[in-house]
Order: sequence, then structure tokens, then C-alpha cells
Amino acid sequence: IFNKCICFDEIDSTQRAIKKLAREGREAGIVVLAEAQTDGRGRMGRSWQSVGGRNLTFSVLLRPALLPGEVQLLNLAAGLALKNALREECGVAAELKWPNDVLCRGRKLCGILSESAGEAERIYYAVTGIGVNVNMEPGEIPQELRGSATSLLIESGKSWPRWRILTAFLGRFAALLELLSSGGGAEALLELYRAGCDTLGREIKVICDDGSVTGTASGVTAQGAIIVKTREGEKTFAAADVVHLRA
Ligand code: BTN
Repeated sequence: IFNKCICFDEIDSTQRAIKKLAREGREAGIVVLAEAQTDGRGRMGRSWQSVGGRNLTFSVLLRPALLPGEVQLLNLAAGLALKNALREECGVAAELKWPNDVLCRGRKLCGILSESAGEAERIYYAVTGIGVNVNMEPGEIPQELRGSATSLLIESGKSWPRWRILTAFLGRFAALLELLSSGGGAEALLELYRAGCDTLGREIKVICDDGSVTGTASGVTAQGAIIVKTREGEKTFAAADVVHLRA
């Protein structure tokens, strides 16, 4: 489905650009790519920084047949597609941390953000935005993120044509979206996600609005929420930050 790409040298946020195109009624599958973002956005309203020309920064317009509570499935599909693309295309073994962080040696390589607009019973459109640290040298990682962020160059020892990562990702993401909209639906996607997610079975700390909870990640629900076995019983979190406590 990803057959149209609009590229900007600089834009406020590719996420915002896609939302505008969606409101204008444009078709699903458009990709907006930017060399640099002046106001990149991350999860939970955080800002997202990237070094112009070194990273892959893009968003895609989707019109999936999902309910608003199922949008998390897009994050899971995107995270899995990227993890598989990095392994198969670059030989880099990345970890997939629920819901959608792709890490190497515990450091973040990629951020994914899916947002949607619609009503209770259907969504009009969804936007999935991805930022991958591709060719950032160690010294280009912002000071405050050293220790918590990495790049494909740092992990593989070489630089990568960004189009290769983009096309490898888009092909795999399209296949997973197809699976999601086909007969197997969310369960078929979730089966693959559960097998590829490195959070499951681990001791984790979940940081949410009400504080933090520690336990063992034991499952992912049909809506993509995480199930955690805690001392007080099983708890489910639809959205939260997760920390992997040990291997
Ligand atoms: C996160 O918080 O981990 C998600 C970060 C998502 C960043 C990407 S970069 C492309 C797209 N445009 C944005 O403004 N955000 C997303």
C-alpha cells in the first residue's frame, strides 16, 4: 500500500503533516519523510529529537478497520516489522520492548508513535510515525541521551543507506497490516508479536500515570495491552512505559 512518498528537507513534524493530509481526505499509504523536524513529537507528549540527514524520520497514513481501543496494534506491528527488517536486512539483533521500542543492548534505536482520529465505533484514520537512529555517530547522540540511545551505525559498525531501512520496514509493515485486516485478524498478528517481543516472560517495571508496578510480563491482550503478574495479582496496562529489569 505504500506507493506514494512526499519528502521534506525540513518540517515541524511528519506526524502533523500526515494528519493534515488525512483531514484533506487523502488515501491510505502516503508516506511523509523529512530530513529534519523542528517539532518532532514522541509518546506521552514528549519531544523527539533527531539529527538532520542522519536518521530516518517518517510517518504513514493508514485507514485501518480498527476500533479506537485497538490502535495499539499498529504500534506492535510497526515494532515487529522494524525488528525483523533490522535482523534480515542489516544483521542487527534488536530487542522489541512492549509496546514498540526497538532497542539494542538496552538502548533505544527507534521510536514509534501511532495516533488516530475517529469516533467510538470507528476510526477515520491512523498515523504511524517512526524515528530510527540510522547513521548517528556516538558524538551526535544528544548528551542527555547517551547511555539510553544508540544508532544502527554504532551497533553495526557501518553506515547504511536510509532508503534500504525504509523499504525493508515498509514491506514488512505492509505484510503485517495485511495480516491484521485479513481473516486471521488481530490474533494472527499477535501470535507473531508475542513470539518476537522480548518483554514477555521478563521481570519488568511498568511506569504509568498512577505510579509504578513491578512483576512478570505474562501476555499481550487482543487490543495489544500488556498483562503483568504482580504480587497483588494480574494487572493489564493499555499504555505505559516499561523497563526491562533483568535478562
Ligand atoms: C517515542 O516516544 O518513542 C515515539 C517517537 C516517534 C518519533 C517519530 S519521528 C517521525 C514522526 N514524527 C513525529 O513528530 N514523531 C514521529
